[in-house]
Parts: sequence; C-alpha cells; structure tokens
Amino acid sequence: MNCLLKKLSLLVLIGLILSCSAEKEEPVIGLITEKAMVVSAHPLASEVGSAILKKGGNAIDAAIAVHFALAVVYPEAGNIGGGGFFVIRDKDANYHSLDFRERGPLNSHQDMYLDENGEVIERKSIKGHLASGVPGAVDGMVKAFDKLGSLPWTELVQPAVDLAENGFELTADEAAKFNRAVENFQTYSSIDPVQFTGKTWKEGDVLVQSQLAETLKLIRDNMREGFYSGPTAAFIAAEMERGGGIITLEDLEKYESTWREPLIGNYKDYKIITMGPPSSGGLIILQMLGTMEEYQVSNDKGKYPDYIHLKTEMERRVYADRAAYMADMDYYPVPVSDLLSKEYLKDRFLTFDPERATSSASIQEGKLLSMSEETTHFSVIDSMGNAVACTTTLNGGMGSSVVVDGAGFILNNEMDDFSIKPGHPNMFGVLGGEANKIEPGKRMLSSMTPTILEKGGELFMVVGTPGGSTIPTSVFQVIVNVIEFDMGMQEAVNAKRFHSQWQPEVISYEEGAMDERLQSTLEAKGHVFVERGGIGRVDAILKLPDGTLEGGADPRGMDTAAGF
Ligand code: DON
Repeated sequence: MNCLLKKLSLLVLIGLILSCSAEKEEPVIGLITEKAMVVSAHPLASEVGSAILKKGGNAIDAAIAVHFALAVVYPEAGNIGGGGFFVIRDKDANYHSLDFRERGPLNSHQDMYLDENGEVIERKSIKGHLASGVPGAVDGMVKAFDKLGSLPWTELVQPAVDLAENGFELTADEAAKFNRAVENFQTYSSIDPVQFTGKTWKEGDVLVQSQLAETLKLIRDNMREGFYSGPTAAFIAAEMERGGGIITLEDLEKYESTWREPLIGNYKDYKIITMGPPSSGGLIILQMLGTMEEYQVSNDKGKYPDYIHLKTEMERRVYADRAAYMADMDYYPVPVSDLLSKEYLKDRFLTFDPERATSSASIQEGKLLSMSEETTHFSVIDSMGNAVACTTTLNGGMGSSVVVDGAGFILNNEMDDFSIKPGHPNMFGVLGGEANKIEPGKRMLSSMTPTILEKGGELFMVVGTPGGSTIPTSVFQVIVNVIEFDMGMQEAVNAKRFHSQWQPEVISYEEGAMDERLQSTLEAKGHVFVERGGIGRVDAILKLPDGTLEGGADPRGMDTAAGF
C-alpha cells in the first residue's frame, strides 16, 4: 500500500512537472541560416530562390526567379500582369529602388469610372478589362537584371517555366481559392480561362498552366520583347478589344519601369531605406517613426494601450496627408521633405492628447510649413550581403479577373488605386483627391512598403507585406516590435496587429489582439473598434548579432523561409 502511494505521488509529481513545462511558452524563432535566405508567400517560390542562391546567384537573381515563380504558384498576387517595387541595398551599401508600378493607359481619363451624372459606377475600376493599368512587372525584372543580375537570365525564368508546364500540387486551401475565383474568371474574362475554371478543384490536384508556360518561354528567350511586343502583346491587345478595354500595343511599347532615389530616413540609430512616391508606404512609416521618436513606447501590459493610442493618432494624421499630398511625383509635386521635416511632424501632433482620441472629422491634412485584400512581398539576403525587398501586386485578389486568352496570365485591377472621384474611397477605404486623379501614363498611388533597415551602417532587416492600406502600418508595427519591444523576427511577425487610417474612424484589430484591459483603456480615451481577419502577411529577415539570419515567415499564410 505504502509502495503504491509512493508510486502514485511520484506519478502526480511527474504530471505536475510535465504540465508546468507544457504551460511555459516556447520562444517563437523562425528559420535560422548561416548565409542566405528567401522568405516568400509560397514554399515552392522560396525553394526556387534558395536554389538560385545556392548555385551562386545573388539576391537580385533570386528575387527575379522568385517573382516569376510566384506568378505561377501564387497567381492571385504573384504576377507578370501587374507591377510593384524593389528596394535594394547592395553589398557595397549602395541603395536602389525600382518602380515597376503599372501606369494609366494612354486612353485613360479622369471620369472613366463615372456615369453621366458624375456618379461612380460600382466595380468598374475593380473588375473587368477597364480595371487594368499597363503592366510593369516584366520590364521591372529585366531592368533589375540589367543593372544588378549576375547569372544568365534564362536560368532565372526557367524554374517558373517548369512549374507552369509540369504543374504543381494544390493544397486544400489553394483548391478552395480557385473554386471561389471561378465565377469571376468566367464573368470578366472574354474567353473562359479553362486552366482555372475547367473543374472543381480539390486537394492534390495538379494545376498546369500551358499558355502561361509559353508566355514565360517568350520572356525567357526575348526578355522585355517577350512581353511588350510579339505574340504576348498581340494577345493582350486582342483581349482588350474583345472585352472593351483600352490598353493598346502603343501602351505596351511605351511602358518603362524607372529607377528612383529610395526614400531614406533615420529612427534613433537605425537607417530606414524604403520606397518613395508613387508609393505612400515609405512616407507613412517615416512620418510615423519620426513622430514616435519623441515618445517612449513599451509593450508592457500597463503601457501597451498608450502605444496603441499613440499609433492610432499618428495613423489618423498621416492618412489624411496621404489623401491630400501623395501621388506619382512625375505628375504631382509631392512635398516629400516638408512632410518628413521634424518641425512639420511636431506641428502636426500639437493636437495630440494622450488621454483622448482626436475625431477624424477634426483632422485635415497638415498645413505645410512651406508649400513648395492581394499583393505579395518577399525578402532576400545573399551570402555576399546584397539585400532585396520586393512587393508586387495585381491589387485585388486575382486582379481584374481577366485572364489574357492565349497568354494565360491574369491582368491587374490597379486603376482602382487612383482616386476615381474625389472623396470616393478605393477598395481599401482610403480616400484620395486631386493629386492622385487618373492621367494617361501616370502611376496610381500605392501603399506598398518594401523596406530595408541598417543599424550602425550594417544590414539589419528586410521587411514588407501585402494588405492594401494596412501595409505601412503592418511594416511599422513589425519594425517597432523588433527595435522597441526586443522581439526576434518570427515573434515580431507573429504578433497580433492593429490598424487605423483616418477614415473610417475605427481601430481594426485581429482576433486575439485585444484584451479587456486594453479595450477598456482605449475606450475611455474615445476609441471605437472593429475585429477583422488577418492583417497583412509580413515576410522578413533579421540579421542577428552573430551574423546569422532569422526568417520571419507569416503564419497567416503559407509563407515559408528557405536558405542555407
Ligand atoms: O499598391 C497598393 O497599395 C495596393 N494595390 C496593394 C494591394 C494589396 O496589398 C492587396 N493585398 N492584400
């Protein structure tokens, strides 16, 4: 009996020890590699990038290969029919940014989405042939390659050709995603794109995209000409004619991506290299970090509500500025240095009350001191120290839902990022005015925020995300999580997110982000909340003090880190 009791109490003790250790949370750590890494939205694309790095390609080579691979395995956002931005820090600490954003077609005009009474025709800028800007992705890949690539071009495109030609197996989620998209594809494409619509998809089915494989071969063999002239251009023009679109052969021929000075700012002892106009993303994170430098923030339970209040108040002011002042600088004089000046930011925050929410209605854009839900992001670092942040998009999921017949790729619906009528919100609820009106050749204002950070002159972090208007605030939060809240890369990416943007006047938050104390403290200050699904899918890489790399692949999607 005594012996049985002893045995029982031993078992209880072991049980207790086990349950205690089970309660202790494992630290969240992402993939750690010694030399090089890719983090992207799809495991197959990350593998393609990692293989390029392994055979001696640099980060730019890998980024190009990943971009083409995503166009095949992640067609809702990865693309050749869309556009995006590269921010690059090369191994010698030179900074580059490439704008391969779509452009307004030459026949586009300010009122093209309005009826005869001047009212917005719902969905006209979102679905169908008129929703597309002139694609920039292929020109962007070629421009980046010409300046910074090192392996033969054909080797960077071939993996995507193989994936399209041989197909790849769908997960249950991917199958469901295609099934959901079928109706739109059939409604908006001029010819039923049977590669997506031919069946009800299920887990384990292999998606083969033969037309896309042929288009990729043309790009592999002819670079820019494989897309902007020859058969692909003819297919696009024919698709436009059949569907009542306005992109012409001339639009395609004239499209050019543009190297621009990256936007550079500092926060404490960090340097931030990010995307300037036509993206608002870089300006937004620099305005927010510049304002926050004056405040002490903490994620201790007692102080966290103050951080969320401060962040929301910054967001309200910055998104009001976005609506009034931010656009394509080739068409509108964006007052970049004014918007980032310390004096302006301080002045803008004079109405900040640590105890009360400022109503958005009372916030206008700042007085300048002198008037002078689909995208994808991936991050790459190679063993030589080159770093690439790339965000690329069709805009909404599956873009315009127009698949170019014969060429097999999806066209963007980026025209909705223009201000289609002053005061009319775009699909992400952000407002715009005169600055971002539609003009032929102009780039529509973006929120995409591919960003690279340095600390003490050394590469520190590569970061970015999809998420429409939530992109800059997600990037901001991940940066703050690492710099101010001492999180590792994966932990910073996993942490729950909040978002606010002037209008609508709410704080949205992910499930699990809010607790009672936070909610009651913020409510007492006058904030209103709405719970929503996942905010963004951040893919980032952190260089750790010992020189190794930690990946942060967003668990909100299938995002994956790969490297060695
Ligand atoms: O350029 C932009 O800001 C938008 N077209 C991005 C769209 C986006 O992130 C959708 N993804 N969730």
